[in-house]
Formats: sequence, C-alpha cells, structure tokens
Amino acid sequence: MTSTLLEEDSGDAGAQEEFEAAFEAAVAADERIEPRDWMPDAYRATLVRQMAQHAHSEIIGMQPEANWITRAPSLRRKAILMAKVQDEAGHGLYLYSAAETLGTGRDELLDKLHSGRQKYSSIFNYPTLTWADVGAIGWLVDGAAITNQVPLCRCSYGPYARAMVRICKEESFHQRQGYELLLALSRGTEAQHAMAQDAVDRWWWPSLMMFGPPDEESAHSSRSMAWKIKRHSNDELRQRFVDICVPQAEALGLTLPDPELRWNEERGHWDFGPIDWSEFHAVLKGNGPCNEQRISQRRRAHEEGAWVREAAAAYAAKHSGDGRGDSGDGGGDAEGARKEAVA
Ligand SMILES: [Fe+2]
Ligand SMILES: [Fe+2]
Repeated sequence: MTSTLLEEDSGDAGAQEEFEAAFEAAVAADERIEPRDWMPDAYRATLVRQMAQHAHSEIIGMQPEANWITRAPSLRRKAILMAKVQDEAGHGLYLYSAAETLGTGRDELLDKLHSGRQKYSSIFNYPTLTWADVGAIGWLVDGAAITNQVPLCRCSYGPYARAMVRICKEESFHQRQGYELLLALSRGTEAQHAMAQDAVDRWWWPSLMMFGPPDEESAHSSRSMAWKIKRHSNDELRQRFVDICVPQAEALGLTLPDPELRWNEERGHWDFGPIDWSEFHAVLKGNGPCNEQRISQRRRAHEEGAWVREAAAAYAAKHSGDGRGDSGDGGGDAEGARKEAVA
C-alpha cells in the first residue's frame, strides 16, 4: 500500500472517506498495511491487543520450560532447551517491536501485563511436572502455536506478518525437538515411556484450548477475518491441529487421551470428544494452577532488570549524541537489528 496517498494528516471529511476506501481496497487486494498508512482506529486497537497478547505469551512461556534447564538429563538436551527458551525471548522482542510501530510503547504493554490488564496464553498457567513435559510442550504447545501462526505470515499488517515469518521457522524447530524428545522417552525404559504418556495426557486438552473458544462464542473473530488479520476460524485451526497430531502420536507410540477420537470418512477429518470449556474459563480468570506464580516471577524479573534497561538507555543516549547513531532513535546496533527484524 502506498503511504504517500494515505498518510494521516487531514481532518477533511472527504479526504477521510478516501482514506477509508483506500484502506478497504488495499485489504481486499491482499496488500499489506504499513505503519504510516491510514487505518481505522479499531483495526489499530485490535492489532495492538493481539500482538501484545502474543508477545506476553512468548515471554511468560519461557518460565515453565526454563524450570527444567538446570535439570536437563544431558548436555545436549540442556543446550537445545536453552536455545529454545532464548528463541522465545526473541519472539517476544520482535512482537513488542511490531506493536511499537502502531505507536504503543513496550513500557505501556509490559505495565498492562504486570497489572493484569492484558492477558497471555492460558496454556502457560499449567505446571511442568516432569522432564517429559518439555517434550510435550514442544510437540503440542509449539505445534498448536505453529498451526495458529503460519496463517499470520499473510496477515494484512506488514510488520506483524514479517515478524511471524521468522517466528514460525523457529517454532517448527521447537516442535521437532519436542517430538524427538518424546520419541526417545517413548522408546526408552518402561518408566520413561510412562512419563511421556503422562505428559501427553496432561497437555493434550489444554493444547486444543489454545485455539480459543468455539467459533460461535468467539468475540473478535469475524471482524479480524474481514480485516485479514485472521485467516481461519478457531474451529478450523483446531481441526487442522488434531488431524496433524493423530498420525504423529501413532508414530510416537503414544495415545491421545480422547476415547472419542475417530476418523470420519465423510468429513475427511478426525472427530474428537467435547472440550471442557469450564476449565478454560477458570484458567483464563486467573484460577489456573500457576497464574499467580507466573505473573509474580515476571514482575520480579522486570524489577531486577531495571539496571539493564537504564544502562542500555544511557549507552544509546551517549552514542546518539556523537553522530554515530541516527538522532533520537536509540542509535546502537542492537536497536538497528531489532528494527530490521520487523522491517
Ligand atoms: Fe515462540
Ligand atoms: Fe516456541
């Protein structure tokens, strides 16, 4: 979309209509909306809310797995897990940067997370009880995230779509490492196999809930679909995920904890049993097993990291004054790289 025509600087009603028509036409033609393009306030607000929730989920999602870094059973597993948890931090940063292109600073977004005014994915409010949970999270949670996120690479908002391309590549590595970890356990001793099965039993249903409420109850879906922020409905994506997982579970030698799972020849999909949405809503309301722990740990990490932010700001200020950096944009190389990641 050409920003020259659409920059937001006119109060004239005729011009306003023209901007709206150009926005609608660009979305209809599958063009990307860029930060300086005119966009409806509700489109901007929807994107900020969605990107913020996504960014928050990435950084809160580091906690349940980081819990196992010191207890990984080998150096190889430890190195893989550290890389994965670090990737999730990176995903959070790309997404906060993408949200910043819409004029909302990350301080404001983090403040909303810490005060409970913005949410993160409920899946991270479940505990990681055994080492096999690291495998189940990779296979199922990262797998569900990919199913949700691949269509976002074609989202109408440019910076979000571009951030998702890289995120999805890394998520597919996460999914494979989880699968490989579970396969090793499943083919191991009887106790290891049982541990893998127990983890899958606990993570399967919460993973299905990651796609959000059923279509008829989904508050934001239809407008997001019209704006091409979202490309498929919650139920469509959930079905796609089930269809992918069933043969993979079989290859793993593990069972999915759903006695109603059956191939439906007519639909060409796997039928699955009803989801316990009362559990989903309880966790969403803050009554999951780890809600309080996750948010208090996040607040503590933020407070303990204050000196790093101060030092980075002081460094950036020093270098923006000496002609090395572009004035006022934070200057340093890290900032440049960060901008490039979403550009
Ligand atoms: Fe991620
Ligand atoms: Fe991931």
